[in-house]
Amino acid sequence: MQDSKIFEIPAVQVLRRRIEEEGSVFWFKDEALAIADAETAQRIEAANYADLTMLDGFSDVVRGRNSEPVSWHQVRSGWLGQMRALTSAEGFKRLALRMQALLDAESGKDQDLVWLAERAMLEPLVPVIISGLSPRAHRRVVREVMSKVALVLSDIDEHRCPPLHRSKMWVYQFLVGVEVRRELKGRVSGQRPRQTDLTDPMVDMLPALGVDRAADAITALLTAITSSPGASAACLLYEWHRQDVWRERMIAELSALSLDALCESPARLAPATTRFVKEVLRIWSSPPVVTRGVRTDIRYGDTELKAGQGYVLSSFFIHHDKRQWSDADVFNPDRWLAESREQCPHGSYVPFGWAPKSCIGANLGLGQLVLLAHLLSTRYRLQISNPERAKMAIASVIRPMDFTGTVVRP
Ligand code: HEM
Repeated sequence: MQDSKIFEIPAVQVLRRRIEEEGSVFWFKDEALAIADAETAQRIEAANYADLTMLDGFSDVVRGRNSEPVSWHQVRSGWLGQMRALTSAEGFKRLALRMQALLDAESGKDQDLVWLAERAMLEPLVPVIISGLSPRAHRRVVREVMSKVALVLSDIDEHRCPPLHRSKMWVYQFLVGVEVRRELKGRVSGQRPRQTDLTDPMVDMLPALGVDRAADAITALLTAITSSPGASAACLLYEWHRQDVWRERMIAELSALSLDALCESPARLAPATTRFVKEVLRIWSSPPVVTRGVRTDIRYGDTELKAGQGYVLSSFFIHHDKRQWSDADVFNPDRWLAESREQCPHGSYVPFGWAPKSCIGANLGLGQLVLLAHLLSTRYRLQISNPERAKMAIASVIRPMDFTGTVVRP
C-alpha cells in the first residue's frame, strides 16, 4: 500500500517485500512457511486442525492419567448453540445498553480513541462470556482482559506495558481462574443460577470435560476476544471519521431505526452500515498475521509441512491480494453490494479466520460493530483532536495511532 498515512512494523514490511518478490507462499529459512494465498491457507488450516481433541486437564496430567477424550468441536458447538440466544433481539439490546453505559461515562473526555474502542467493545462482552458474577469478580475479569489488550498494544504504545505489567498479569490470570472455577462449581451444584452466557454450555459438559478443561475453555474465550473486536472498532472509528460521504449515509440509515428495531437483526436492517463494517474488516483485518505450529505432517500440492515446523498466515495480505480483489487497497463498501462484480472471491475474505477454528462470535461481533455505528449516529458525535496526525498502524493488531479525541453527547 502506498498510503503515507500507514505505518508498518518491520516484520510486516519484510513480509510485504518477500510476498512481492517471491509470491504468496514461501519459506522463512527452513522453519516456517509464509502463506498469503487464500486457498493454500484454507487447506493447510483444515489439515492442521483435522484432529481437535482437547489436551488433558491439568489435574489429570499431575496424576499421570489421561482425561476423557473430548473434541474441541463439541465445545464450539455448545458455544454456537448459545450464540443463538446471545444474538437475539434481547441479547443485542443488553449488549448495546452496556456499550452505551460505558460511552456515557467516558463522554466529554479527550482520550486515546483506540483504548476507548477496546473498552467499548470488550467490557460489554465480558457478561456474554461469563455473567452473574459479583461486581468484584466482574471487575477482576475485565482487568485481566484489558491487561492482555494492553500487552498487545504495547508493541507500539510502550507505555501500555510498564515494568511489572507482565508479573501482574499472572496474578490477574490466577484470580480469574479462581472466579471461573467458583462460578462453574456454583452453577453445577445449583448454588448459583444458570445464565445465558458462554460459560453455561460448559456446565452441561462438566462431567466429560472436568473443571480444569472447562475453566481453560472459558479463559481461552476471554483471550480470544482480546485481539480482534476492539481493534476492529478502533478502525471503524478511524474510517467513520475520514469517510465523510459514508458517515452521512450511515447516519441517515441508522437514525431512522430505533435501538429496539435495530436489535432485531443489526446486520440485515442496516445494509449500508453492514457493507461499511465488512469493508473495515477487509481492509484492516486483525490480527494481520498469525503463527501456527504444525501438528501433523501435511501435504498440499507442492507444499509439504512436517510436524514441529511452523507456518504463518496473513488475512491482511489475502485481503489485499490484487489477483483476487479489484482495487484491493481502495476502501469501497459498495464492493459488497449483491449486484457488484467485486463480490468476495471464494475463500479470500477471512476476517474471522479459517475453519475449523474460525471465530464463534462472528455474527455477534459484526452486529456489535453495527450497534457502535448506531450509537455514533444517534447519541454521540466523534471529535478527533489532531486529525492530521492520525494514521493506521499495521502491527500485532491493525489499529489507528496518534488517534485521540472525544466522544461528545450533543
Ligand atoms: C468483530 C469482532 C471479531 C473479530 C474480527 C474476530 C476475529 C477472529 C479471528 C480472526 C479469529 C481466528 C484467530 C486465529 O485464527 O488465530 C477468531 C477466533 C475466535 N473468536 Fe473471534 N472475532 C470477533 C468477535 C468475537 C466475539 C464477540 C467472540 C465471543 C464472544 C469471539 C470468540 C472467538 C473464539 C472463541 C475464537 C477461537 C475459536 C477456536 O479456537 O475454535 N470472537 N476471532
